[in-house]
Amino acid sequence: MILVTGGAGFIGTNFVLDWLEQSDEPIINLDILNYAGNLENLGILAADERHTFVRGDIGDSVLLNSILERHQPRAIINFAAESHVDRSIHGPEDFIQTNIVGTFRLLEAGRAYWNGLNEKAKQDFRFLHVSTDEVYGSLAKDEPAFNETHRYEPNSPYSASKAASDHLVRAYHHTYGLPVLTSNCSNNYGPYQFPEKLIPLIIVNALAGKPLPVYGDGQQIRDWLYVKDHCSALRRMLEAGIPGETYNIGGWNEKPNIDIVHTVCALLDALRPLTIGPYRSLIAFVTDRPGHDRRYAIDAGKIERELGWKPVETFETGIRKTVQWYLDNPAWIGNVQSGSYRTWIDKNYERRA
Ligand code: NAD
Ligand code: TYD
Repeated sequence: MILVTGGAGFIGTNFVLDWLEQSDEPIINLDILNYAGNLENLGILAADERHTFVRGDIGDSVLLNSILERHQPRAIINFAAESHVDRSIHGPEDFIQTNIVGTFRLLEAGRAYWNGLNEKAKQDFRFLHVSTDEVYGSLAKDEPAFNETHRYEPNSPYSASKAASDHLVRAYHHTYGLPVLTSNCSNNYGPYQFPEKLIPLIIVNALAGKPLPVYGDGQQIRDWLYVKDHCSALRRMLEAGIPGETYNIGGWNEKPNIDIVHTVCALLDALRPLTIGPYRSLIAFVTDRPGHDRRYAIDAGKIERELGWKPVETFETGIRKTVQWYLDNPAWIGNVQSGSYRTWIDKNYERRA
């Protein structure tokens, strides 16, 4: 069996659902259920014996030791994190605790457990740490995309905390020999993404007839990957990745934010037209994010060459599926827009002119 952390969040949910669709290998899912963690995502697994959910913190060493002893996983896949840049600007403390201290505790528990395994199980064990391209910082317009040797230059409390966790993971391999793998993936989109991130925020605001906030000039570039392609890359890394290596994951899909917003608006115009005019009339340019990274781009050549991985979706097919998923799931949208969601939206957008 495998231990997944953060498996009730956006990417973790997609990973758990895809895993159990393709394999009968059981999953222990450890998630603290913060604002972005949602067990409703995994409702379909409620009676499925292959999935065991544990509510708890990756920073809780006692809990980690007992889970590892009891369930004897062959791998740990660490998705658990505070993941939103704007929240890290308003309050970095949780990012330090979960992303750095939490990852450290998970590494320590993983190391103690791994040391107690027999030689064969030790060799086969993997600690897969799920990280981000944001650790590399921001690219100028004409610079080549990030490859695995690009220097770390994180600019936000979020990316700095992820960078710190990547360094710890690396050190546990170098010093203790723990068989780790690290992935650095570009921006994901798809089903179950919490509507604080750009694409789901634009979709849910548009459907509610609310302004569509675009930070600054909207010309910042992100490199978008459909979430299920990220999950297939992680599965491939678990199968064939070389311990100690890092792999950049991306879909060669760089787009300015404003183009993303226009694409979502055009899809909604076709699928759920507004009577008062096109959705793009709701676009509102607002005050920029402090320290806003201008451009991210991933060179995914290594994972393609060495592990034979390729994304299945193009941006056009993936974004259509995503918009359709939100249209088909109004109850999910309603349920995640709790009081704490509204408080966040007020806090993040009220002072943006
Ligand atoms: P998310 O915020 O949707 O989910 C994070 C999950 O982790 C939530 O379910 C939350 O409850 C859980 N969690 C938070 N703190 C925890 C703790 N202390 N103990 C246990 N569980 C905890 O985030 P996501 O978008 O699914 O991202 C998952 C991982 O992928 C993160 O590590 C993130 O840095 C990385 N990543 C995300 C993207 C992206 O575009 N979303 C891209 C590249 C990498
Ligand atoms: P986001 O989804 O928060 O991901 P990240 O900051 O990790 O890349 O934001 C994606 C891009 O969209 C980023 O350049 C910030 C921008 N953005 C907006 O323009 N408006 C918004 O309301 C949000 C949430 C993001």
